[in-house]
Amino acid sequence: MTSLAELPSVRVRAPGKINVYLEVGALQEDGYHELATAFQAVSLFEDVVATPAEGFTIAVTGAVDLDGVPLDDRNLALRAARLLANETGYDGGVHLDVHKQVPVAGGMGGGSADAAAALVACDALWETGLSGPELSRLAARLGADVPFALRGGTAIGTGRGDVLNPALARGRFDWVLVTSDDGVSTPKVYAELDAHRERHRVDIGPVAARPSVDAEVLHALRAGDATMLAAALRNDLQVATLRLRPDLAAVLEHGESSGALAGIVSGSGPTVAFLCPSAEDALELRAALRSAGHAAVHAHGPVPGARVVG
Ligand code: C5P
Repeated sequence: MTSLAELPSVRVRAPGKINVYLEVGALQEDGYHELATAFQAVSLFEDVVATPAEGFTIAVTGAVDLDGVPLDDRNLALRAARLLANETGYDGGVHLDVHKQVPVAGGMGGGSADAAAALVACDALWETGLSGPELSRLAARLGADVPFALRGGTAIGTGRGDVLNPALARGRFDWVLVTSDDGVSTPKVYAELDAHRERHRVDIGPVAARPSVDAEVLHALRAGDATMLAAALRNDLQVATLRLRPDLAAVLEHGESSGALAGIVSGSGPTVAFLCPSAEDALELRAALRSAGHAAVHAHGPVPGARVVG
């Protein structure tokens, strides 16, 4: 009998992300919002090891709180593996071992990274040989952020966030991320934003029919200039996340008064991301936030998308 250790396996690493710019347009008929976003992949990684199996199973470990990670068919990595099998006619299964560094339900695309990693790992393990565009099309069916986790680096997302165009980026950006024990639900944050906009319609005016990423953001990314990027950070979801999690306002203030160039809620939150002038400054800020009792980690971007390692 073949022991598990002798089975061929494929390890894939995929990054978490920060939306350095996120403009949310109107709610569409499909329940999604039109948006324009600038993604940066950062050095918190999800590792997925795919091993041949008869059925579809998963085990999850990690450096983060794993509460809230489903281990059944709702798990996005398992759904990715099943989708690839269905689309390619592969009739075997897979066991996925997922090791998480990205906070769960934290607004950093951890589940999306798992799905992207599972697609790449199963494609290699099963030798299904899909092209990049084919994998990306499957990724978009799994979730709006999954295509970006495949690609990594820096990219502009439009549509649901899944229509990607590369953005030129130079240099390295240093971030400190403050994570929360309790995640927030992305659909709830979008619904809260819709309610907020409805309540303040007179003051806010109509939302942009066609959201677009500000030229300043593209300029700052191209120049590798953290100070310029800090001035151009924007997240339309932040107002909604702060309504659901008012405690985060103090976290933002704390980081910004302790050396960060700027702070922003990451995606739908509740992770808060602080952009720092350098890696050294980031380590100092991390220490300051930790001594105030926050869970803070250092990460840098941009980093590559889902790829086979080892
Ligand atoms: O695609 P994903 O599963 O990541 O999206 C989760 C939820 O977030 C959607 O069901 C929708 O409520 C909201 N969403 C949205 N507009 C987007 C992306 C996500 O309203 N562009």
